[in-house]
Amino acid sequence: MSSNADLASRVDTSDEWIRTRTGIHQRHLADPGQMSSDLAHQAALQALSAAGIAAADLDLIIVATSTPDFIFPSTACVLQAKLGAARCPAFDVQAVCAGFVYALDIADKFIRSGAYKRALVVGTEVFSRILDWSDRGTCVLFGDGAGAVILAAADRPGVRASVLHADGSHAGILSTPGQLCGGKVTGDPFLRMDGQAVFKLAVRVLDEVARETLALCEMQPADVDWLIPHQANVRILDATAKKLGISPAKTIMTVDRHANTSAASIPLALDVAVRDGRIKAGDKVLLAGVGGGLTWGAVFVEI
Ligand code: ACO
Repeated sequence: MSSNADLASRVDTSDEWIRTRTGIHQRHLADPGQMSSDLAHQAALQALSAAGIAAADLDLIIVATSTPDFIFPSTACVLQAKLGAARCPAFDVQAVCAGFVYALDIADKFIRSGAYKRALVVGTEVFSRILDWSDRGTCVLFGDGAGAVILAAADRPGVRASVLHADGSHAGILSTPGQLCGGKVTGDPFLRMDGQAVFKLAVRVLDEVARETLALCEMQPADVDWLIPHQANVRILDATAKKLGISPAKTIMTVDRHANTSAASIPLALDVAVRDGRIKAGDKVLLAGVGGGLTWGAVFVEI
């Protein structure tokens, strides 16, 4: 765990600035030897245990990450080997902070097709590896982590509606534009962000996609028991909930303890709220993510 005070000893910032601008109090940072697949492995084991199934019962593995272990093989394949779940298809989805809602929607549609019965969906990130630790405007915002869910074929409960979007013309406001070429990194290997542009777009598209998703199943924001937006910062969460007319008491907020963990943020928040007893079987939960690309989407689930 790394507190804001810890960061203040590395860069010119303060606990007060970070808390008031972002709501973040602390973040977890992976040890140097820990990869995205290691965090994913721990999250997957907990999800399997909660679902009461074995890794061998899985017939699909999807990992959402923008900080994969390697260029290839995919982190999903590395995870599959760690789980000992050989043979089922395994692949990564790269949609940055919207990665988990993308992966969940893909898994749901694969299951609906009848081709697969039990899918493991993981969001996992080690964003600490792509941060410029001398850039106080970005390094204070992110953390490392992983969260996982199991989806199983059933009439209900489950995903009621989902919508995904992307607009590549906004790529420049949030990117890590480095490349590997001839054994060397070319371009900029660190995360760069126009914070204010991201803020404005994020609040707008989260509100729009939430309403679009609810409309598909003739629901209103008032029908939502719990809103889980991407945990970027508390001001984006507050503004999104306010625009939707959903009270802060129904909005799951874990950015204070995890910071922004990109594709891991929504499943981590879901895990916290299920384990502390707030989210219960039968609850209607709206997950909404937005990330670099720009990518965004929402999934409305009955737990
Ligand atoms: N500590 C202290 N001062 C800082 C820090 C810091 N960590 N970072 C920036 N500052 C300073 C700046 O240098 C600037 O100083 P100046 O006025 O002397 O030039 C001042 O604070 C204001 O900087 P801004 O960048 O204008 O600060 P802003 O009020 O916009 O807040 C923030 C920055 C928190 C990033 C805000 O833009 C924001 O919330 N953006 C949303 C983006 C976000 O959360 N991104 C996460 C990833 S994107 C995603 O997940 C979808």
